[in-house]
Amino acid sequence: MLLTDRTILITGGTSGIGRGLAETFHQLGNQVIIAGRRQPLIDEITAACPGMHGVQVNMRDPAAIAHLVDEVGALFPDLDVLVNNAGISRLEAWDGDTIDIATSLSIIETNIVGVLRLTAALLPTLGRQPSATIITTTSGLAFVPRSNFPTYCASKAFLHSWLQSLRHQLRHMPIEVIELPPPYVQTELAGALQASDPAAMPLADYLAEVFDLLQKPAPDNGEILVERVKALRMALQNGSYPQIYANLNPA
Ligand SMILES: NC(=O)c1ccc[n+]([C@@H]2O[C@H](COP(=O)([O-])OP(=O)(O)OC[C@H]3O[C@@H](n4cnc5c(N)ncnc54)[C@H](OP(=O)(O)O)[C@@H]3O)[C@@H](O)[C@H]2O)c1
Repeated sequence: MLLTDRTILITGGTSGIGRGLAETFHQLGNQVIIAGRRQPLIDEITAACPGMHGVQVNMRDPAAIAHLVDEVGALFPDLDVLVNNAGISRLEAWDGDTIDIATSLSIIETNIVGVLRLTAALLPTLGRQPSATIITTTSGLAFVPRSNFPTYCASKAFLHSWLQSLRHQLRHMPIEVIELPPPYVQTELAGALQASDPAAMPLADYLAEVFDLLQKPAPDNGEILVERVKALRMALQNGSYPQIYANLNPA
């Protein structure tokens, strides 16, 4: 994708991968808009990146998404990149006496419904541009689930399937549809310990590899696959699925 002269909205831009994408796109001279719930982080990041804009949004709230779309439409009518990156990951136990269905629903509302709402609301704007890009963060766990994160993994598998259909439907329009399935990366997605887990990929390494891939022509399937995610992504195709599934889900 073209990495300069873009106007880019990044949800989940307040931390982790989204913040890293925002700061890198900003350093490349793009107009970046970050969105997230934590206003103090929006203030901190935009103060450090002159010209970057921030909008507070809860992706589970349809009215807040409508406000985000209105504000971006009024201030940035040239918006030509949407990065659907906001997401949550939660442990769930489905084998106890009570099941915390509220947690499952919050994952679906954030990771699926919020993405669909925002994409639907911004497609007319993106479609008016000479060319546009939609990037959506999925996960390597879309391809082989970790059973203690059942709804999370399923939400990302949903997005993987949905993106294939979206890409096909938009094939006659100048809108490229890119899927970003990270491997396990050092962020606070599943709690503070993840950010320093040596088993996770350092965030800076992940971002460097992603931007190296993004500057090249996107593959036909639109997937930006860093080396570390390929084992999960290709497990079904290369016959390693049973072994990788067993490693992720010890008996
Ligand atoms: N790190 C990994 O190992 C990994 C692996 C595969 C996929 N991913 C995906 O990468 C994406 C980014 O995650 P991360 O690892 O960078 O973790 P993170 O640091 O926790 O970032 C999650 C982002 O999503 C935002 N967010 C969450 N719920 C929201 C809501 N209701 N409304 C608005 N924003 C919301 C958060 O902002 P606020 O809290 O300010 O709202 C935050 O900026 C997620 O989609 C995640 O599933 C991560």
